[in-house]
Amino acid sequence: MSREADRRRMEELRELLRYHNYRYHVLDDPEISDAAFDRLMNELIALEDRYPEWVTPDSPTQRVGHTPAEGFETVTHTVPLFSLSNVFSEDDVRAFAERAQRWAGTSVDFVWELKIDGLAVSLTYEEGLFIQGATRGDGVEGEDITQNLRTVRSIPLRLGQAVDINVRGEVFMNKAAFVQLNRQREESGEGLFANPRNAAAGSLRQLDPRIAAQRPLDIFLYSIGYVRDQELQYHSEVLDYLAALGFKVNPHACRCQDIDEVLAYVRHWSENRGELPYDIDGVVIKINSLALQEKLGYTSRSPRWATAYKFPAEQKLTTVLDIQVQVGRTGALTPLAQLEPVRVAGSTVSRATLHNEDYIREKDIRIGDTVVLQKAGDVIPEIVASRPELRSGREQRFSMPKQCPACGGDAVRPEGEAVTRCVNNSCPAQRLEKLIHFASRSAMDIEGLGPARMQQLVEAGLVAGAADLYRLTEEQLLKLERMGPKSARNLLQAIEASKKQPLSRLLFALGIRLVGIEAARDLASHFGSLQAVAKASLDELLAIRSVGPKIAASILDFFSEEANQRLISELAAVGVTMEESRGRNDAEEPLQGITVVVTGRLEGCSRDEVEMLLREAGANVTGSVSSQTDFVVAGERAGSKLERANQLGVRTLSQGELWQLLRERGVVDD
Ligand code: IVH
Repeated sequence: MSREADRRRMEELRELLRYHNYRYHVLDDPEISDAAFDRLMNELIALEDRYPEWVTPDSPTQRVGHTPAEGFETVTHTVPLFSLSNVFSEDDVRAFAERAQRWAGTSVDFVWELKIDGLAVSLTYEEGLFIQGATRGDGVEGEDITQNLRTVRSIPLRLGQAVDINVRGEVFMNKAAFVQLNRQREESGEGLFANPRNAAAGSLRQLDPRIAAQRPLDIFLYSIGYVRDQELQYHSEVLDYLAALGFKVNPHACRCQDIDEVLAYVRHWSENRGELPYDIDGVVIKINSLALQEKLGYTSRSPRWATAYKFPAEQKLTTVLDIQVQVGRTGALTPLAQLEPVRVAGSTVSRATLHNEDYIREKDIRIGDTVVLQKAGDVIPEIVASRPELRSGREQRFSMPKQCPACGGDAVRPEGEAVTRCVNNSCPAQRLEKLIHFASRSAMDIEGLGPARMQQLVEAGLVAGAADLYRLTEEQLLKLERMGPKSARNLLQAIEASKKQPLSRLLFALGIRLVGIEAARDLASHFGSLQAVAKASLDELLAIRSVGPKIAASILDFFSEEANQRLISELAAVGVTMEESRGRNDAEEPLQGITVVVTGRLEGCSRDEVEMLLREAGANVTGSVSSQTDFVVAGERAGSKLERANQLGVRTLSQGELWQLLRERGVVDD
């Protein structure tokens, strides 16, 4: 092809990728499969490698910078970012509305919006190009986090029009992504985030944009700081204009003429916020007319034309019965509160992690204390505070043990770290946790080999290390309790099948500290074999996208230990695959070309998980039902989407029917 044709193709690819990125991340309604997107991206990367002079800063390949920052520069906001006054009762909302009407001297239109529980940021575009992103800071000065914000896929690097504009919005992490991130962190031995907001904040403050890029952050835009040459009269127009420029705007916003209507929405969302995929902490009520907004102006901290109704958090009081210490697979000792069982946000909670010694000290949590409990991301129980005023005097302070509760070995807290670790490499609790991790779903995925079964194998003396799993015989298994001939055969088959797991899974399964799924994938595809990873130098490791200095050091450490070298040669000897298999082929995309909508509540898994599975199988998962939809998966309490499917005569599948289809197509195992 000629240079000119290549240049045009690059332009076309950038445009296509921008469009499909927008469909996927902003509209939540992708038109093509992830695999097809990757193919376009790879084509562009190849062309950009060939013609580096034609790489543009807004190219979809340029989201993730490679150089960690030393710190963040201070940014002075051209227009300050105000905060909102809060109200906590319906009467206060009415009083706000009446005051506004009085000042305005006329009746007033309102817009209500969800109050997203994340972090306010300001984004600046010049001639439609994203040039700077900053935190709110104190409202006058924030920090320049442009590099991290560029990694947020729902932030356009280039807008639909060449405008000069500054916009504001809330960066957040959705609940499923938060739970998944914490699961990964737990598996790779990192500390957990207490809630999605902290996870989002921690991600935006990463000095290394490559780490921020791995955090599933999202954004909703809700206001304009300034815009050149654009006349807008109403806040509702602002929201429409933001959406037209390509920004992600929350769909749950509405213009209302009277405050009773607003209050009905407030009540609705207070009761139903659990259904949303992200955390909200209230509803924001804004006056619609921008002229009136200007007339009402600001107090020193917040606008008079808007207020936030804050929901009461779903909190319950309970008692800490005991604080036990768990030993993780990396030896980390985690204190766990045993609680008087209590129902919060839809389920009974009897345990909550207390993270580490500092967390307990900061919140002054003692055994016997009454504590306030809530669910972070509506899922993970979190102790928010203790209630010292309710103490009887019999409460006991907790201190971290100096010895590992499982093996009696030394427990050490290195200077400057929050985590105390058991340093005994042959600690039985660590060993068991390592084995459980090895067989777990995101690692070698050995079906039928959950924690209880693994413990049984270890206690029976059949398994001490991962390689022993591959030497188990039917005869040995049959001697175990709760093990019939059929389960024994199934288990052996599942173990055998795991030998062929991709290298990325094996790398993750080895339990190298800080090596999560993402880093394992990158290592596997870069090095191609376990031996090559084991031999890699520091510089070679650092060349990998998701590997920073800490991860690299941990990998070097791992492979330098004799016990680990032995484990690897034993795994190779029993026939575990140590090389990366070839790339994906079409057989791995059995749902290619099929458009699916998933709606309603699913049993035993989240909608996100099912959607991910469908996408991985090549399906095009969209958010709305149309005549193009091939089928709708309808869980419990499926509402309007199911109705629409029926109207259009689109095929619907129950969850059971979906699994059957997935089994037939070989997406999941029988
Ligand atoms: S409007 C001058 N709208 O709430 C108007 N804020 O307590 C300022 N927030 O700092 C903000 N969702 O971080 C607005 N739909 C929404 C919001 C929202 C969340 C946050 C924002 C702000 C804080 C104010």
